[in-house]
Amino acid sequence: MKIKNICCIGAGYVGGPTMAVIAEKCPDINITLVDSNPDKISAWNGDLDNLPVYEPGLKEIVKKVRGKNLFFSNEIDKNINNSEMIFIAVNTPTKTKGEGAGMAADLKYVISCAKQIAKSSRSNKIVVEKSTLPVRTAEKIKDILSTHGRKGINFEILSNPEFLAEGTAISDLYKSDRVLIGGDETKTGKIAVNHLISIYEKWIPKSKILTTNVWSSELAKLASNAMLAQRISSINSLSALCELTGAKTEELSKAIGMDKRIGTHFLKPSPGFGGSCFQKDILNLVYLCKFYGLDEVAEYWHQVVKINNYQRTRIANLVDKTLNRQSNKKIGVLGWAFKKNTNDSRESSSIYISLNLISKGYKLYIYDPKVSDKKITTDIKDNEHLIKSKHNLENKFVVCRSIDECIKNSDLILVLTEWEEFAKIKTKKKIIDTRNIVENEVYFKL
Ligand SMILES: NC(=O)c1ccc[n+]([C@@H]2O[C@H](COP(=O)([O-])OP(=O)(O)OC[C@H]3O[C@@H](n4cnc5c(N)ncnc54)[C@H](O)[C@@H]3O)[C@@H](O)[C@H]2O)c1
Repeated sequence: MKIKNICCIGAGYVGGPTMAVIAEKCPDINITLVDSNPDKISAWNGDLDNLPVYEPGLKEIVKKVRGKNLFFSNEIDKNINNSEMIFIAVNTPTKTKGEGAGMAADLKYVISCAKQIAKSSRSNKIVVEKSTLPVRTAEKIKDILSTHGRKGINFEILSNPEFLAEGTAISDLYKSDRVLIGGDETKTGKIAVNHLISIYEKWIPKSKILTTNVWSSELAKLASNAMLAQRISSINSLSALCELTGAKTEELSKAIGMDKRIGTHFLKPSPGFGGSCFQKDILNLVYLCKFYGLDEVAEYWHQVVKINNYQRTRIANLVDKTLNRQSNKKIGVLGWAFKKNTNDSRESSSIYISLNLISKGYKLYIYDPKVSDKKITTDIKDNEHLIKSKHNLENKFVVCRSIDECIKNSDLILVLTEWEEFAKIKTKKKIIDTRNIVENEVYFKL
């Protein structure tokens, strides 16, 4: 079998950029991204300045390969059947109901993909888990494929977790630290692994392509995210101690990071990590540990999430204290994305800090250069249940069109995302800078 056609189910933050880069690097393979959300597919086929995912460098690649060997389609069944290799890159959020609610990963989208692959496939397929999944999910997928699939068709399951970070997705994909491929140690398993290696080999040095068994690969992704998030929670926990002792976080980070064994990454204090992955992946790990009866291990990792929530509350309380609890004051919130260079606001600390401030009675003027007005509004409305007091939400926030509009209307400015354009802000009003990015003097920085 030669891989001539790839179908990727899920045209989101992972599927979109990853397939764009594979299409660019492998011009002899046709790649089709499919998605159950037709609006997303239309947007991928539409204006290059309004693609569903904002990532530096992405639109240039899409411009180059779209319509040549990269396609976006609503025809899921047809594209599954036409492809030799199928990536599953659908979302795996935290379960909201049933067993494991609030912790375990919700696999309903992955399971529905597996059923659709089983139903639509009339020839052998290599199925690649791109989504982040709890260890041993491949077993479940295999069960579904063998129960629902046609007789005589062979499905090989590979785990190939994605390590890209939003905001730097394209450079991460171009120069991955490592590509991880987990496969069965059977003859057909090894052949499938080699097919995937031959794709990545087009631009990733072989020494960086690591092959493992499926379970190590699945667990390595959860463990990597847990370790990265742990560094953020570690420095954030120490930022609270700096505030009380007069130690400076910047100096502390530098002193710690210069130790080669520790290194400099992820040691900047912040309003807490956001994004769709860290919290859900750690909770998923916590759930797995509990499932296996490892309560102490579960509690160890759970603490990383608890410190993150603590940091968000700490910042909201700091703003409240700075304004002497005068809740008639207006607060300018600069930044809604969970970090710079992305339009993704999933689990952004801005959401939780803003809702806390609204609960305290404040009115917010919010600005972000890439997150749409609509998204900011839905983020707030979808989380209305977190507002503890009775306030008419409509009068409690305004989405601004510019930094100036935000500053002009506010009594205090709260910088929550490290967008470069926030570095130059100048105002006589008090600034609380939770990213240590503002170059002019600020009232408070973390
Ligand atoms: N976002 C990241 O930075 C990142 C990094 C590494 C790994 N991951 C993992 O990758 C996976 C995808 O994350 P994402 O951020 O791209 O999610 P996303 O929500 O941006 O995209 C997922 C897409 O899948 C589609 N979808 C869901 N069920 C479907 C189905 N049955 N058929 C067709 N389409 C379906 C959704 O409509 C959505 O467009 C998750 O498991 C995540 O943990 C994410």
